[in-house]
Amino acid sequence: MIYFKDGEFLNEDQIQVSADDRGYAFGDGVYEVIKVYDGKLYTAKEHLERLVESAEKIRINLPYTMEELTEIVESLQSENQLTLGHIYLQVTRGVAPRAHQFPENSVPVVMGYAVESQRPLQNLEMGAAMKSVEDMRWLRCDIKSLNLLGNVLAKQDAIEAGCQEALFVRDGLVTEGASSNVFGIKDGVLHTHPANHFILNGITRRVVLQLANELEIPVLEKEFTLAEALDMDEFFFTSTNAEITPVVMMDQQPIGQGVPGPLTRKLQSAFNRQIPQLTAAGHAEERESNGPAS
Ligand code: PDD
Repeated sequence: MIYFKDGEFLNEDQIQVSADDRGYAFGDGVYEVIKVYDGKLYTAKEHLERLVESAEKIRINLPYTMEELTEIVESLQSENQLTLGHIYLQVTRGVAPRAHQFPENSVPVVMGYAVESQRPLQNLEMGAAMKSVEDMRWLRCDIKSLNLLGNVLAKQDAIEAGCQEALFVRDGLVTEGASSNVFGIKDGVLHTHPANHFILNGITRRVVLQLANELEIPVLEKEFTLAEALDMDEFFFTSTNAEITPVVMMDQQPIGQGVPGPLTRKLQSAFNRQIPQLTAAGHAEERESNGPAS
């Protein structure tokens, strides 16, 4: 695998991370995950803009412009000849002896790589199960921070309960997933938490809201309770890797009929139509089941 670090493209043997990197000691940094379909970056501009915003929110001065960041992620894709997978890119505040306050002269460390990853076809088709957990994270979940302890513990809790994703609940209200945004559908209306400091404003979330608009599905960006979530006709979670994953079980109770619902299917089809079309043989079935590629 070819990595990017501080202006250079390096292989596994060459890349080194300092023990004094603040990302390592404090989780003092931000990151992005960008999907690659058919050798093309998907919504890279939106991801890189959010990276710039996250860095600004924690007062890291990114050493690269948007154009340079775009070049970096495009090079990671091409250097690794990545067809289907994702690019990981992170920025930390830099290297300095451990002390909580910002170091005086540290230079941000930018590191990235490209990795093959399959689409979660089984979950996309059959649906997934969620487990609700208390959202005990900090109050700036809008920042895509490297500090993911709350998310890590929640995900592990869900996995150990035989589920695929955790559902965060803060003061009785559903916020998001451990690594995804969540949506419910009740009486034809799409419900999701508003994009404020309690959730990450996911790029896939924004795509879904846009698709709902095009499909004339009414949207309500308003908090709902766990009891309301359990009573939804349909439910799904979204992320760069999870795409639009239907949720068929929550806290061991079926959602709706216990199978992916019709509006979720409609949104999934619309989503599939607008990603770079997959030409790899392994994905031919996916195309067929959704009609011819446009
Ligand atoms: N996670 N909320 C949280 C807490 C997330 O970690 C993510 C994504 C999302 C969805 O964002 P997007 O649609 O932009 O991927 C929402 C990434 C993929 C990860 O940490 O691997």
